[in-house]
Amino acid sequence: MKMEYDYYFTWTKQIISPKLKVKSTKGNYFILSGGEKVFDAISTNFQAILGHSNKKITKSIQTQLNQMPIASPKAIFDLKNESTKLLIKFLKLKEGKIFYTISGSESVENALKLARQISGKKYILARKKSYHGATLGALSATGDWRNEKHFSLSNYTIRIPEPEEDPSLEKTKKIIKNIGATKLACIILETITALNGVIVPQKKWWNGIQKLAKDNNILLIIDEVTTGFYRTGTNFAFHKYKLKPDIVCMAKGITAGYIPFGAVWTSKKIARYYDKNILSCGLTNYAHPLGLAAMNSVIKQLNNKNFKTSFKVLQDYFYNNLEKIKKLPNVKSIRSSGLLSAIELNNVKNINWQKAINYGLHLAVNNNLIILAPPFVVTKNDLKQMFLNLKKLILD
Ligand SMILES: Cc1ncc(COP(=O)(O)O)c(C=O)c1O
Repeated sequence: MKMEYDYYFTWTKQIISPKLKVKSTKGNYFILSGGEKVFDAISTNFQAILGHSNKKITKSIQTQLNQMPIASPKAIFDLKNESTKLLIKFLKLKEGKIFYTISGSESVENALKLARQISGKKYILARKKSYHGATLGALSATGDWRNEKHFSLSNYTIRIPEPEEDPSLEKTKKIIKNIGATKLACIILETITALNGVIVPQKKWWNGIQKLAKDNNILLIIDEVTTGFYRTGTNFAFHKYKLKPDIVCMAKGITAGYIPFGAVWTSKKIARYYDKNILSCGLTNYAHPLGLAAMNSVIKQLNNKNFKTSFKVLQDYFYNNLEKIKKLPNVKSIRSSGLLSAIELNNVKNINWQKAINYGLHLAVNNNLIILAPPFVVTKNDLKQMFLNLKKLILD
């Protein structure tokens, strides 16, 4: 049998992989080869937070492309200095240092390496309903179906219960006691679980996790790859919970998807450790100037007061419409935070990704969940049309 395409499609059997035949992108839409317009209701893979035609980002990248397109990891230059300061300020964690990467998986991978090196311990705590990336280390922390068949490093991963199964953390405390805190390097968690169901833990649960980590000398790694950069209506989702993590993983929205890029923030204490210990982490394209240029533009746009006002208006409109979706017969529940929402259906027999495309919607479908995460630069009209199409899809 002749192969239809010479490249792989991710996370699927190749023969049945869903396809999106695109000619171009405009604003918040994909233009398909037949001319149809498909609304990007999931910001591509959560990264296109500022849409597909953001002139400020492209200009920033182009300027850098003309000035200095490539840099050594050892290079010191103004854009690197200034953008890093901007990122640290955006994190509202005052001090600390940034390690740059090229993807979310690499951010998680390096965070785990740092935690193991500093602590000298191997075991990690993580949740079952989680996705932390596709590389072996990140996959070992991941709890969903992707962590199968890879002989990943999961033997050193201990699962803790989901927040709703253990609100007072009694079970989690027992787990830590049984393994022994002296063996535990870190706990890694998405602040708000994204693709695996938009699970928004109670503040009490998060405070308890932070206290457990501190009392037991376990490093707290927060994975903000999807929730970072205003997705949940604050710079980072951990700001809602007023958490003080040791390490924060970032990617996706950091450059709004225009350049593959990521970053890891570490506390001052960790930074000081590496003053005199070798940081055995590095990447050829570390702190890539084009990534820095895109990040610089993204943060400046998100810091703009007008942006915050328009986000709030969109968010209110988004929630009002979700209330109407909630009343549809097939809808079991809806969970949301900022411009991120999971619509849980009673019955999924008719709903799949390809069918949503036929309804003009590019969204994520995960078992009985429809996940929405539109770009932050949509109009109310875009959202109105999105909800009209969504209603048709759910009722079909
Ligand atoms: C929470 C979280 N962490 C890590 C990753 C991995 O990021 P990447 O696909 O950029 O490697 C993802 C990707 O979806 C994610 O959602």
